[in-house]
Amino acid sequence: MEYHNPVLLQESVDGLAIKPNGIYVDVTFGGGGHSKEILKRLGPDGKLFAFDQDEDALANALQDERFVLINENFRHLKRFLRFNGVKSVDGILGDLGVSSHQFDVPERGFSTRFDAELDMRMSQKNDLNAYKVVNEYDDVNLKRVFLDYGELKSAPALARTIVEAREVHPIKTTDALKDILAKFLPEKVRNKILAQIYQAIRIEVNQEMDVLKEFLEQSLEILKPEGRLSVISYHSLEDRLVKRFMKNGMFEGEPEKDFFGNFSVPFKTVGKLIIPNAAEIKLNNRARSAKLRIAQKK
Ligand SMILES: C[S@@+](CC[C@H](N)C(=O)[O-])C[C@H]1O[C@@H](n2cnc3c(N)ncnc32)[C@H](O)[C@@H]1O
Repeated sequence: MEYHNPVLLQESVDGLAIKPNGIYVDVTFGGGGHSKEILKRLGPDGKLFAFDQDEDALANALQDERFVLINENFRHLKRFLRFNGVKSVDGILGDLGVSSHQFDVPERGFSTRFDAELDMRMSQKNDLNAYKVVNEYDDVNLKRVFLDYGELKSAPALARTIVEAREVHPIKTTDALKDILAKFLPEKVRNKILAQIYQAIRIEVNQEMDVLKEFLEQSLEILKPEGRLSVISYHSLEDRLVKRFMKNGMFEGEPEKDFFGNFSVPFKTVGKLIIPNAAEIKLNNRARSAKLRIAQKK
């Protein structure tokens, strides 16, 4: 089975405005689709560093002298680039979220299609997993996860139902979780609600929102002036953070004004929001929720 079919491939790499001798980073290597396209556009003296926290992605490493793959979380972007002797870069690409491979391997527990142990870790080194979230989080914390990351109106009732059920037996598998929550999953909206529940648990397990913030802040620090940031996100929580950061250089509040009364912001946004066209979505259903934003450091 194919590891991952890259989304918005040309558009996101175009967004990097690649300089043949530049240094670039692909922080979400996966099956390497975007990395291969970046390497195509780099000259012999260019350099590409890629990150993926999933050990499975290492099998896709590209045999190319200009390429280095780092098996770490991109929240440590600055640290591991420095470790490789790099303090600043010309462009950074992020294609957030989960790869098709991660969805397709039943044991990883990401997909609503299979029964599996409650896992959902993107990195095998992660201490937190879905079992711990479901079985050890208190009522208040569970409610927060479903509300903040699943945007589920029924979050309080979902949390209460889980807490009551696990008093009888620990909840060990995704099917057990689905059974316990059956009354919240009427046939008509079952897939939608399940997707929201899984998304919420997955974001918590992988601390995706905190990690994304750390990544964006570090990107700003290490990009050279006129360096490009190209980010594809797959749900509104991510996209909101990316949009605000590219616009204001911060996640909340308003940036300061300069001497002339203009907002002092670190990026210039490049073009408008880009979404896949109908032809791409037809070929690759996973592309349907993708949103690409591009910015250039001032
Ligand atoms: C959507 S896939 C990327 C696919 C890739 N662009 C391609 O063309 O094959 C996201 C990948 O990023 C990795 N990933 C997600 N969050 C990460 C993080 N915080 N640090 C490092 N890798 C991460 C996942 O393990 C997954 O392999």
